[in-house]
Amino acid sequence: MKYKRVLLKLSGESLMGDKQFGIDNKRLSEYATDIKNIYDNDVEVAIVIGGGNIFRGVQAEEGGMDRTHGDYMGMLATMINSMALQAALESVGLQTRLMSAIEMKEISEPFIRRKAVRHLEKGRVVIFGAGTGNPFFTTDSAASLRAIEINADVILKGTRVDGIYSADPEKNKDAVKYDTITFDEIYEKGLKVMDMTAFTLCKENDLPIIVFDMDTKGNLSKLIAGGDIGTIVQN
Ligand code: GTP
Repeated sequence: MKYKRVLLKLSGESLMGDKQFGIDNKRLSEYATDIKNIYDNDVEVAIVIGGGNIFRGVQAEEGGMDRTHGDYMGMLATMINSMALQAALESVGLQTRLMSAIEMKEISEPFIRRKAVRHLEKGRVVIFGAGTGNPFFTTDSAASLRAIEINADVILKGTRVDGIYSADPEKNKDAVKYDTITFDEIYEKGLKVMDMTAFTLCKENDLPIIVFDMDTKGNLSKLIAGGDIGTIVQN
């Protein structure tokens, strides 16, 4: 396999499936099966999942709530998704450990970098919950940070689109999909992959990002097997 250790970033919104809110069990179990497949191919898997299907920090601001307050609520939302994912992964026979950036001893381990790495070496799927534990950072930033900390080979950013396009493919029929693109080209063309904090962390630490469609079953396995899936961003 091309990648030995990956950090998979899942979107909270995708977990809704066809629902308007919350967690779609069918989608959850599809994710679990996809993850099991790559694990069975000897890939060490760490996961960060967003919380947008439950709560978004910006929503709170619109309602007059303090941004920091909303961001912490968002971090808690990621814990709900992380726990759901943990249960789904265990139901397909994987061993998992959930580590939280905000201490919640009764339901998760605290995030300790060396322990996280050890868990991966021992074959456990590690889920990092509660973002970075800090307001003003997105779950993409958490994914970048954790990926660098655990020395992941790549971030696999699961989205609803199948890669990065030159323009919005839904609005512009001439939009072309990139198979590979550099961090600098993304800056120059003003394309959006992740927020700048997350993006810069990856660039400066030479960590490639693959943006791919996670909602098509089997895509993750194809990508890991070296298939022509998604767009890779690298230096
Ligand atoms: P190794 O000793 O490296 O093999 O790791 P381990 O995770 O199996 O050992 P440990 O004894 O630390 O953990 C046993 C179980 O307790 C695992 O399911 C952990 O996820 C869980 N666990 C460990 N620390 C905490 C904690 O602080 N809070 C909670 N809720 N569970 C914990």
